[in-house]
Amino acid sequence: GKGGYRHFMQKEIFEQPAVIGDTLTSYVDPLKRRVALPEVSCDLGNLPRLTISACGTAYIAGLVAKYWLEQIARQPVEIDVASELRYREAPLPEGGAALFISQSGETIDTLAALRYAKAEGQHILSVVNVPESIIARESNAVLPTLAGPEIGVASTKAFTTQLVVLACLTLAIGRAKGSLTANREAALSEALLEVPQRAAEVLAMDAQFIGIAQELAEARDVLYMARGSLYPLALEGALKLKEISYIHAEGYAAGELKHGPIALIDDLVPVVVCAPSGPLLTKTLSNVEEVVARGGRVILLSDAEGLAQASDGVAHRIELPKVDPFVAPILYALPVQLLAYHTAVAKGTDVDQPRNLAKSVTVE
Ligand code: F6R
Repeated sequence: GKGGYRHFMQKEIFEQPAVIGDTLTSYVDPLKRRVALPEVSCDLGNLPRLTISACGTAYIAGLVAKYWLEQIARQPVEIDVASELRYREAPLPEGGAALFISQSGETIDTLAALRYAKAEGQHILSVVNVPESIIARESNAVLPTLAGPEIGVASTKAFTTQLVVLACLTLAIGRAKGSLTANREAALSEALLEVPQRAAEVLAMDAQFIGIAQELAEARDVLYMARGSLYPLALEGALKLKEISYIHAEGYAAGELKHGPIALIDDLVPVVVCAPSGPLLTKTLSNVEEVVARGGRVILLSDAEGLAQASDGVAHRIELPKVDPFVAPILYALPVQLLAYHTAVAKGTDVDQPRNLAKSVTVE
């Protein structure tokens, strides 16, 4: 059942501190402060390339992983949506590995991309939530998410637990390649271990999202923007909003704004910005200024330090807990989920069974 919640999606959003904690328990040794992956049967220190592929929200998790793997582990990554990878006949390097991400483990395009990569001689890794699924069975090694069953069509807890597993994979590859000192691995592991508590703090702010959602529910279009490892969260925020509220939404890399999307800005277009404090904060805030100067209604998600530096013209400020920039993409998933959820509730759409969508896409 829904355990007292109004929708499965809401229940699953609120389960995140627990299931992120469960997933961390099986991947991070809290005493040694280092990750311990299941046996992956390939040399993670020596991959010429990791090819990542998935669909929808799982693809967006992979996009965050690309930022982490390249920046932190110095691992070259290629990523593509599975429906493209399966047909574009990309050459995959000898000795490479390919990683597929799927909640259901049954998505037909992801499975087809997996089979293509296998035929190209790649070692096949997968991050799945259903361990007996076909994608799990056809993989050389499986990194499970411990999200438990996800019923709501819009993926929430599967996404954040995918991110946790991918963060741990990043640390494991970084160690194997010698890109990460033991001290740095310990610091990043500690940042991960704090996520359940910080996520619970965000969920305790739930009421703050309801008022803003009333405003989003009136909009015809909503833009999302962010930079770096938060950029995929702009895509995820827009995807969640489209799926369950049917409001047109787009996610952009903030630096792309002036290359086109800024033409859309007027006082009717809300712009949700994910901008935690960190090396890219000032760059993102200068994009916020550009939006404000054109009358755009900015909803700024940041921490106290980031909000202190933001323009007075920002319409709404949401103060999130300050976390290590490494784990910010995990934490910022929650506010974008809550915004989409409350917007859909305000519009009265069928949150758990949005029109035209299926939980598991087993046909092309
Ligand atoms: C978005 C959503 C879809 C799935 C996609 C992949 O909320 O649920 O975009 O993420 O269909 O599904 P899996 O992860 O089962 O392969």
